[in-house]
Amino acid sequence: MNKIDVLLGLQWGDEGKGKVVDTLAGRYNVIARFQGGPNAGHTLEFDGIHHVLHLIPSGIFHTNAINIIGNGVVIDPIILVDEIRQLEEMNVNINEQMAISRKAHLILPTHRILDAAKEKAKGANKIGSTLKGIGPTYMDKTGRNGLRIGDIMHPDFKKSYQDLVEKHKSLLKAYDFEYDLTEAEAEWFKSIERIKQLKIINSEYVINDSRKAGKKVLAEGAQGTLLDIDFGSYPFVTSSNTVTAGVCTGLGVPPNSIGEVFGIFKAYCTRVGSGPFPTELNDETGEALRKKGNEFGATTGRPRRCGWLDLVSLKYSIMLNGVTQLILTKADVLSGFDTIKVCTAYKVNGELSKEVPFSLDDEVEPVYTEVKGWHQEIDGITDIERIPTELHDYIDFLEKELELPINVISLGPDRKQTIVRNPELVNH
Ligand code: GDP
Ligand code: IMO
Ligand code: MG
Repeated sequence: MNKIDVLLGLQWGDEGKGKVVDTLAGRYNVIARFQGGPNAGHTLEFDGIHHVLHLIPSGIFHTNAINIIGNGVVIDPIILVDEIRQLEEMNVNINEQMAISRKAHLILPTHRILDAAKEKAKGANKIGSTLKGIGPTYMDKTGRNGLRIGDIMHPDFKKSYQDLVEKHKSLLKAYDFEYDLTEAEAEWFKSIERIKQLKIINSEYVINDSRKAGKKVLAEGAQGTLLDIDFGSYPFVTSSNTVTAGVCTGLGVPPNSIGEVFGIFKAYCTRVGSGPFPTELNDETGEALRKKGNEFGATTGRPRRCGWLDLVSLKYSIMLNGVTQLILTKADVLSGFDTIKVCTAYKVNGELSKEVPFSLDDEVEPVYTEVKGWHQEIDGITDIERIPTELHDYIDFLEKELELPINVISLGPDRKQTIVRNPELVNH
């Protein structure tokens, strides 16, 4: 029985998961999202096309693969149908190439409204949510109130919807928040009709049967480990388990079925939304990273906060996920710096520490090691032998510190701008 490989983010999201999943997808028969929802924005670039996916897995442009939205994902029908429309305009055969779990939960228009009302009420303490209704939908899931894809076929679906909306309306009375549901509700039900025509499946069976039949499955993470509901910088996190363990519950595969775990990280750090960020650069260096790395949110367009690479939190993420190989992205963005800083320890209340503390607040001060930078532009390079010595040294340094091989190096947003260093390990 084949194992299932996992690719997930080791930082605060936006590590380049979409680009790399798209690049590796040709090696897989099934690509599956296991958590999160349209808070994700996964960017793909190839043949001059620039495309952002929110709910649909990043293997969708490969005709050999089936793309599954797993039970752990929360789905906004309006966003899903809009994504489908865009892909159909690009001649993607969605009805054939995509399937949705019956057990995936639905984001209602009132979940989005609740998200916005709650964030407004938090004022300066807001999470910086993408306002896609993620938190309220997962709350209804764990509160055992939610509606699922499988429910849309039920003759009483409209009534179940109305009952839940009434619950939401009474919750909304606690907030000073105006809203109008009429337009969104009409579009929501129209989108539900389109979803009824899609392949709606018992994905836990399909995925395990695929493994049994010798097919290769890749689970695609959304967000990143530092946004995990349990292990992220709580409460500035998302509402799902973004770590490898989430693959088991989000797809219905047993823990001993996990194969390779590809941990993806940027050569520096970014964060969008509120919350602690020890290596954040509120200066011209941070601004330079934002500009060169084009660090603006793929879902909300918000500028991303930028800072140096943080090995303390990376090691934490590697530990939590059981990462077996690393993928380094956006090293091209570091061209032009005389020196590059890397955080190798924290000073917590004056004491040196290599652990992520309970609270990543202002008492955490990063301790940096400096490595030599390089000045040449490297984004056209596809041969590892042609990268600057300083980047070689930087990669060697990271591999030693993190005790794992960096087998894929991404030097640009395009599919082609990828160096697979060790194809036999990636293909295994
Ligand atoms: P995801 O959420 O992890 O899929 O990442 P996003 O798509 O939100 O953000 C990553 C951004 O960096 C996108 O604009 C990508 O096109 C871009 N990108 C991905 N890999 C690289 C890379 O190696 N170099 C550069 N310069 N851009 C990259
Ligand atoms: P991808 O998959 C980066 C952040 C939000 C906010 C927090 C909670 O593209 O890497 P939520 O909408 O989940 O209630 O927001 O999490 N966030 C992300 N940041 N990339 C993402 O996804 C994110 N999804 C959510 O900015 O701080
Ligand atoms: Mg993103």
